[in-house]
Amino acid sequence: MQGPESKGLEVRGLSKHFGGLTVSENIDLDLPPGARKALIGPNGAGKSTFANLVTGILPPSSGTIRFDGEDISALNEPARVRRGIAKTFQITTLFPSLSVRENIRMPVIERKRLGYSMLRAANGDAGTEAEVQTLIDQFELGPLAERPVDSLAYGQQRLVEMALTLALKPRVLILDEPAAGVPSSETHLIVEAIERLPKDLAVLVIEHDMDLVFRVANSIIVLVAGQILTEGTPQQIAGDARVRELYLGGAHG
Ligand SMILES: Nc1ncnc2c1ncn2[C@@H]1O[C@H](COP(=O)(O)OP(=O)(O)OP(=O)(O)O)[C@@H](O)[C@H]1O
Ligand SMILES: [Mg+2]
Repeated sequence: MQGPESKGLEVRGLSKHFGGLTVSENIDLDLPPGARKALIGPNGAGKSTFANLVTGILPPSSGTIRFDGEDISALNEPARVRRGIAKTFQITTLFPSLSVRENIRMPVIERKRLGYSMLRAANGDAGTEAEVQTLIDQFELGPLAERPVDSLAYGQQRLVEMALTLALKPRVLILDEPAAGVPSSETHLIVEAIERLPKDLAVLVIEHDMDLVFRVANSIIVLVAGQILTEGTPQQIAGDARVRELYLGGAHG
């Protein structure tokens, strides 16, 4: 279903205004299958707004969003999720008293119920429980699977959130600050989980943790005041005087 002609996500001229405030301005961004890109920029640059425009949580003021060549700009969020565009949230969306396994089972059942047949090909018709177990293994949550999520370390809870999103079998995954609030001793869990994501999944990571960004992304987009300042390899971005000024000059909180 996802042939070599698959183009993935193509954003063109995307803008968003809140009243007189321009929060996204003429953004062009490509996220082909297998992409590992990061979106960075100071607080208030418009990173989360961009994620909300792509996932359909917010309507754009102008511009187009195409997915595999189809204009999806007018589709609402559930319709885009069915197309395979998913985002994890900055806030926690788990059922704290239920076990890891019970939490992960819910989106698997929901996806099957809604018949998200157009999403990334499933591995045969493995039963729900087998699929839940595969997700548990993928995020190395096996030893914690029967524990209530509120008994887990915060970094581990973020892994469960990622597993929940992956249960929807997305083809585009936007991670909005996956390491926010995670103690530095646990951020390696997030890095490893991103490294184990399906190879053909298109991934955009929004993050302030530069160590994480440089580990997982092979292309970095810098957003400043709603506009793309530059996009480049980690080496190019690390060597860009304007980016260094932004991050060393105290603009970043
Ligand atoms: N619903 C809204 N109405 C009005 N202004 C908004 C709305 N949502 C966001 N903004 C403004 O848009 C700008 C961009 O916000 P956004 O949350 O996208 O930034 P961000 O880059 O994700 O920041 P952070 O790094 O702090 O998460 C900010 O100035 C914010 O105040
Ligand atoms: Mg944000």
